[in-house]
Amino acid sequence: MKILITGSNGLLGQKLLHKLRKDYFVELIATSKGGNRVTDRSNYTYFDLDITNNDAVAKLIESEKPQVVINTAAMTNVDLCEDRKNACDALNIDAVKYLADACVNIDAHLIQISTDFIFDGEDGPYTEEDIPNPLSYYGLSKLKSEQLLQAHSVKWTILRTIIVFGVGEKLNRGNIVLWAKGALEKGDSLNIIDDQFRAPTLAEDLADICILAAKKKALGIFNASGKDIMSIYEIVERIAKHYGNSIDNLNKISTATLNQKAVRPPKTGFILDKSRKELGYNPHSFEESLVIIDEQLKIID
Ligand SMILES: NC(=O)c1ccc[n+]([C@@H]2O[C@H](COP(=O)([O-])OP(=O)(O)OC[C@H]3O[C@@H](n4cnc5c(N)ncnc54)[C@H](OP(=O)(O)O)[C@@H]3O)[C@@H](O)[C@H]2O)c1
Repeated sequence: MKILITGSNGLLGQKLLHKLRKDYFVELIATSKGGNRVTDRSNYTYFDLDITNNDAVAKLIESEKPQVVINTAAMTNVDLCEDRKNACDALNIDAVKYLADACVNIDAHLIQISTDFIFDGEDGPYTEEDIPNPLSYYGLSKLKSEQLLQAHSVKWTILRTIIVFGVGEKLNRGNIVLWAKGALEKGDSLNIIDDQFRAPTLAEDLADICILAAKKKALGIFNASGKDIMSIYEIVERIAKHYGNSIDNLNKISTATLNQKAVRPPKTGFILDKSRKELGYNPHSFEESLVIIDEQLKIID
């Protein structure tokens, strides 16, 4: 199977790249905006691809003819999306249409990654059938990308995920586990919100469900998060416990005191029954994920 991934310099993109380049049954095309930032260059072909460039998307997909395209590229900074709505639309909505149009022309299957932020967080955890009501521009843009695929003739899978974390190479953004580990080690005094609940997702688990969906060319929406639902405070507390750090400097605060640009949903989390049953998705527990991260950090050190 020939698979093309977009955003291969990002966290999910890198995990897909590392898993798929070792897969004997997969011919991998990795693409991202700008040069390849991944050191290992074996067993895949890399192309620069800015997915907001319709012509470039159409040309590359037409010439490479992948059977599956996995779109991991997105504007993922939720507060920045409030400030830069046009740029957010271009990457999170318009580019998804370019990919869908190009996929239809060669009968390729498109996998799109969406988010818990399409929900208002009043009623989590959510099933795939629950009614979205985004509170932020980022959430709205991702919901619009879902809706455009639902109305498009392309064959698609939508995988909805939550707070993705993991270890990567030269990433442009941090993630909660690496940030909290570093801050706890320094002994900083940390103010952590305890009124938002999430199911954080190990990037490897998200890559695995992308691959399961790609191999089955699964149709429809699937929840693709971690299985443990916790407050953000509890996430940091469990990281501290795992690494043997004191929690004396951890202070609970409420969302209201943060004054963030984008409004966040209070309680999300996903019910994973459909993904487990139909795709065989089996994510790690949060503590198992931390052990996997430890192993990866040892290799980097
Ligand atoms: N991270 C989360 O907590 C989270 C939560 C819910 C849903 N999601 C969704 O999961 C998906 C993967 O997220 P992630 O954490 O892997 O994101 P990420 O680390 O930010 O990766 C996105 C990648 O896309 C690249 N990119 C940006 N603009 C591009 C363009 N115009 N054309 C091609 N590539 C472009 C970025 O390049 P640079 O590295 O050069 O900037 C980056 O490498 C996204 O759809 C995101 O919305 C993520």
